[in-house]
Amino acid sequence: MSHPSSASGHDHEPQPLTAHSGNALSGTVKVPGDKSISHRSLILGTIADGHTTVESLLEADDVMATKSAMQALGATIEKRGDTWHIDGVGNGALLEPREPLDFGNAGTGSRLTMGLVAGYDFPVTFIGDPSLSSRPMGRVLNPLRETGLQVKSTTTENGPDRLPLTVHGAPLPVPVTYRVPVASAQVKSAVLLAGLNIAGTTTVIEPVFTRDHTERMLAGFGANVSVTTDDDGVRTITVEGQTPLKPQDITVPGDPSSASFAIVAGLVVPGSDVTVKDVLLNPTRTGLFDTLVEMGANLTIENRRTTGGEEIGDIRVRHSTLKGVSVPATRAPSMIDEYPVLAVAASFAQGETVMNGLDELRVKECDRLAATARGLEANGVDCTEGEDTLTVRGGPVVGGGDVETHLDHRIAMAFLVMGLASEKPVRVDDTFMIATSFREFRPLMESLGAKFS
Ligand code: S3P
Repeated sequence: MSHPSSASGHDHEPQPLTAHSGNALSGTVKVPGDKSISHRSLILGTIADGHTTVESLLEADDVMATKSAMQALGATIEKRGDTWHIDGVGNGALLEPREPLDFGNAGTGSRLTMGLVAGYDFPVTFIGDPSLSSRPMGRVLNPLRETGLQVKSTTTENGPDRLPLTVHGAPLPVPVTYRVPVASAQVKSAVLLAGLNIAGTTTVIEPVFTRDHTERMLAGFGANVSVTTDDDGVRTITVEGQTPLKPQDITVPGDPSSASFAIVAGLVVPGSDVTVKDVLLNPTRTGLFDTLVEMGANLTIENRRTTGGEEIGDIRVRHSTLKGVSVPATRAPSMIDEYPVLAVAASFAQGETVMNGLDELRVKECDRLAATARGLEANGVDCTEGEDTLTVRGGPVVGGGDVETHLDHRIAMAFLVMGLASEKPVRVDDTFMIATSFREFRPLMESLGAKFS
């Protein structure tokens, strides 16, 4: 059976896959470029004055959707050899797109672009697949409305402020001061990007520190941006609107979220020794690695170095006997995309792992908290799903389950990792969505010795 058609025609035949245990994993791999930095490279390159180049851009569906949207807004973007070239239109000079912008499955691309166009006096229509169309956009639209943005939803079928919808910026947008009420880098980033084409100072107050790629990259592109942190750790980020951005030459580091699948696989499959090279080590992204070390993982980081303002390194793991830990809620923003694969690691650990502060998992590509818990149960893992917690009682994992992925790439990859170490094979119902972030997942894991059928 195929998924229902979306407004943007994202119909596909499910592509199930089964993971088998048996082989130790070994070798050195490099994962594709970081998704967050890739989206931002295209967006900021589009509004810079002149020619930006990007090496190791993630060429996954989510990022390609952002590329097409930036082209529709006026940028010239093409790949020559291994390098992506962006001819930016300049800050304040985006064009009105002729067609709806189709973001597929991409929450980050769609939400950041809503911010980017919020200061422009023309309509922009956003569409996406059934997963994206069910995700809340009000968290981004509400602060943007304070600038004068008008929003027209075509449907309220999935709740208010859902795709498809059309936004139209004010002729004279006003700068906002916005305290982000949820821990969301997408909300922070949308408001900052809106501020770029609004006269005056836009201010974002961030009580919980989330990934900081937007503010780092804005500074790199020469925007007038400032960041201060008070004694309670509350960050205040300001950006001056209507100043020119300078084009950049960017090399995108390896995505720690993609690396996490090979890393957890290396830890749970007996006899394994796996190295993932050139992984982004920005501290707003490395919560999983800290947690795995607390669990007793044999995980070392070699060859630490800095490139383009970001620290990177090679992560080596060897099969380890893990033990359960309690993961504090304060760590959630630095590993928000890694809970499904952490839950898989916890399934093989001795004792109980308690994950706290997971409310944001409910509004990811699917309800990731529920999808993870159902996947664990389907494979005989003892777990308890709370409102914003997940408790996993680990031990040898039976497996043999059939996992529903709900159009969520990370649920698919996490449970395929489980099947590489469980007693019986694990089947996931659809791997189609893996291409949204990590098209190379299967061949990369197979190159380490993983067995799929
Ligand atoms: C992202 C922020 C996070 C994360 C997503 C990428 C970003 O979302 O889950 O995969 O690039 O800003 P939230 O801002 O909703 O936490």
